[in-house]
Amino acid sequence: MTEDAGQRRRGRHSAAPVKTSRHSAPALAQVPAPQPQLPQQQRSDERYTPGLASRAVAFMAGRRAETHARFFLPHLAPGLNVLDLGCGPGTITLGLAAAVAPGAVLGIDAGSEQLELGQRAATAEGVTNVRFDQASAYAVPLANDSVDRVFSHALLEHLAEPERAMAEAYRVLAPGGVIGVCCPAWDGFLLAPGSEEVDAAIARYRKLQAANGGDPLIGRRLGTLLGGAGFTQVRLDARYERYVDAYRISEYLAEQLDTEGESSHADTLRQWATQPAAMFAQAWVSATAPANRRPSDWDAERPNRKAEPTCG
Ligand SMILES: C[S@@+](CC[C@H](N)C(=O)[O-])C[C@H]1O[C@@H](n2cnc3c(N)ncnc32)[C@H](O)[C@@H]1O
Repeated sequence: MTEDAGQRRRGRHSAAPVKTSRHSAPALAQVPAPQPQLPQQQRSDERYTPGLASRAVAFMAGRRAETHARFFLPHLAPGLNVLDLGCGPGTITLGLAAAVAPGAVLGIDAGSEQLELGQRAATAEGVTNVRFDQASAYAVPLANDSVDRVFSHALLEHLAEPERAMAEAYRVLAPGGVIGVCCPAWDGFLLAPGSEEVDAAIARYRKLQAANGGDPLIGRRLGTLLGGAGFTQVRLDARYERYVDAYRISEYLAEQLDTEGESSHADTLRQWATQPAAMFAQAWVSATAPANRRPSDWDAERPNRKAEPTCG
């Protein structure tokens, strides 16, 4: 990419000029800790629907890179630097760190409690190439063009301004970098056996998430969102995740419904999940895209097309 193209690309999204430099693993590790500006950076009309109660956090902590970042693993290699946007308790982040070591991974999240979990797990597992910082996806504490890969799983559906988060991803991604994002499409839920009551409970939860500023159908918008942020050649994929324990996911949703005074919907879900044949499956959409690449480069670099994994 020419310097002019770089300037144009940076100018489009950055509010203030930030020193740009090609990074290395230590450069990412040296990123200054974010300033305590989080409340101003977050929107006041946005609320993270699952909350940070221990059951919700434990639910996220069951995720792993091999399962939930599978669509992105072919784009990782030793020595690359990665930003994980909305990393939560960091279990996926640790898997990304293993894939890029000795490169570095920075996980950022608005919730500090979860970051402590991630840091503790890293320490326990002896993972030294990962760092967790509290920061908003709306104001990533990194310089322009400073990371090789941006990854984000299950974040955008909770944001009132996912466009802003994707603009930030575009800003910090170095030319030739790659983004990988995965989000659900709640209209693709598959609950069996079905019933009007259980559909109504899911619809209520969807409304709750929308009222909190999020978009439960955002999976369907990933292509347009990334395109709007400046990414071209977005590749979309989709998969179903069948939850091994239908009760666990139902309880996770029921807790939030209870909190909102929707106990009858919560009970419906709990009762539904006690059926021996209950199946709860969720549709996920993933998107990958290169940052400012010539089409031919991207095509040449695509993982073996025949062996390309399906998302996740
Ligand atoms: C559903 S969890 C996903 C966590 C992890 N990526 C995973 O898939 O298991 C969404 C995470 O986004 C975080 N989050 C919500 N709004 C955020 C924002 N504006 N900036 C950064 N993180 C945010 C929440 O604190 C939460 O940890």
